[in-house]
Amino acid sequence: MESFNRISSLLLVFLLAINSLLVYRIGAEVQHHDFVVQETPVKRLCKAHNIITVNGQFPGPTIEVKNGDTIVINVVNQARYNVTLHWHGVRQLRTAWADGPEFVTQCPIKPGGSYRYRFTIQGQEGTLWWHAHSSWLRATVYGALIIRPKENTSYPFAKPKREIPLILGEWWDRNPVDVVRKATRTGGAPDVSNAFTINGQPGDLYNCSSKDTTVIPVKAGETNLLRFINAALNTELFVAIANHKMTVVAADASYTKPFTTSVLMLAPGQTTDVLVTMDQPLSRYYIAARAYASAEGVAFDNTTAAAILEYDCGCAKPGPAAQPIFPALPAYNDTAAVSAFTAGIKSPSSVEVPGPVDENLFFTVGLGLFDCPEGKTCRGPNNTRFAASMNNVSFVFPGTTSLLQAHYQRVPGVFTTDFPAVPPVPFDYTAKNVSSSLSQPVAGTKLYKLKYGAVVQLVLQGTNIVAGENHPIHIHGYNFYILAEGFGNFNPARDNAKFNLVDPPERNTVGVPANGWAVIRFVADNPGIWLMHCHLDVHITWGLAMAFLVENGGAELQSLEAPPPDLPTC
Ligand code: C2O
Repeated sequence: MESFNRISSLLLVFLLAINSLLVYRIGAEVQHHDFVVQETPVKRLCKAHNIITVNGQFPGPTIEVKNGDTIVINVVNQARYNVTLHWHGVRQLRTAWADGPEFVTQCPIKPGGSYRYRFTIQGQEGTLWWHAHSSWLRATVYGALIIRPKENTSYPFAKPKREIPLILGEWWDRNPVDVVRKATRTGGAPDVSNAFTINGQPGDLYNCSSKDTTVIPVKAGETNLLRFINAALNTELFVAIANHKMTVVAADASYTKPFTTSVLMLAPGQTTDVLVTMDQPLSRYYIAARAYASAEGVAFDNTTAAAILEYDCGCAKPGPAAQPIFPALPAYNDTAAVSAFTAGIKSPSSVEVPGPVDENLFFTVGLGLFDCPEGKTCRGPNNTRFAASMNNVSFVFPGTTSLLQAHYQRVPGVFTTDFPAVPPVPFDYTAKNVSSSLSQPVAGTKLYKLKYGAVVQLVLQGTNIVAGENHPIHIHGYNFYILAEGFGNFNPARDNAKFNLVDPPERNTVGVPANGWAVIRFVADNPGIWLMHCHLDVHITWGLAMAFLVENGGAELQSLEAPPPDLPTC
């Protein structure tokens, strides 16, 4: 017995030594975080109310890791709503259980419940973020997720002096869950927001906000890395900094060919890293954000969020008190400015675009209308309810289990795998007046099955049903290459020739142009169930989503891991 103990303790020491050697060699760590979801009183725009936060912070805590690190987040739900958290843009290779969308990869964490998210960052660097993925809780439950290069590797640009995360948000002066509940009850459009925010603050262009405006202190001459994240619920945003040029170096945690611009456009879900050299006279400069509203005749929040870039003047306090200089921003409907910016984003060097294509998919994305139930009145156009769909399927989330649990445990009747590869009825998708007979989608929980390793090409075709607009389409668990974008109907005979097969950008969220299309390509190398949806929450609420079911591969490390023991049940 004693010798057994001695042997086993020797073995333990040996194992520990190997382990620390491995950790030393790879430099990878395991990071633990405690996230308590709770109700927190805040005051904005002269009004106090309670919001849902993580750890009482708004925006929530920033997670900073290195490529290769494992992150363990223990979430405790002390709020009165069901909640889940999603790690937006993290590939989650084989760990779909940690992805987070409610009723897709997990049942919600109920009030009083908890769940431990555990995943490893594999081959990703840059700016991502995390957010709630349940009802409209992500209006206030979000934060940055910053992935730095592994030890002994560096950025593909000179090390910036400072790194500054700037999270753009969207603010209602009341409970956002009440806003979506009212919209769902009436079938009408949800109320537009009251403000946009930068790092949780609307800025001094709004009432009662000036003393809390986000101030970014900088020094003349230095070059800083600004990590922009659009966490707004329903609004695409233009961003500019007065008198300063920005050099884009990454988007959605993929490096880009550096290019210089005076304005950015970020759709909800997207991130953009820019280098900014502080080469202007000592003063204060606004960083401003306001809507890119591409749908004609649709109400939007036309206010402007502002933070202040403040040069250290080396003088005695209170420093430069001058009114900051305001930047030029494009008009709210300046689609040409968006196209020009988007065209600038490319991979840093030539990439190997996957091919040949195994799955040629064509999905329409757009709005629709449901008839009002008998005897009710509805607040959509002409007594209808607003809807949205892909290939005419308006996605319905299950309520009794998650799609992934149903798939893994082979529970029948939760979903079908007959999502159509092409629209059920082809039509002139972007016509001025699409016939109203085409506006009624069919509700369903339909998935599209992909073989492990399949090369997928997907044309995302916007429609002009109800209103054509730019839809930010996000795929969970994947990055994709954007081969081309354009306006009108996609026409392979003409448009295949426009594919960029040399240095297309790699992203996780693509803004499909208003009344236009985008072509993306990816390899289905991550088994599990992966939601694809419009990142405007108003549209996901109306059904603008579907999910891919990616089968396990045959080789080692090609199948979904077993679910963690504390996975919530419904
Ligand atoms: Cu930020 Cu379902 O995503």
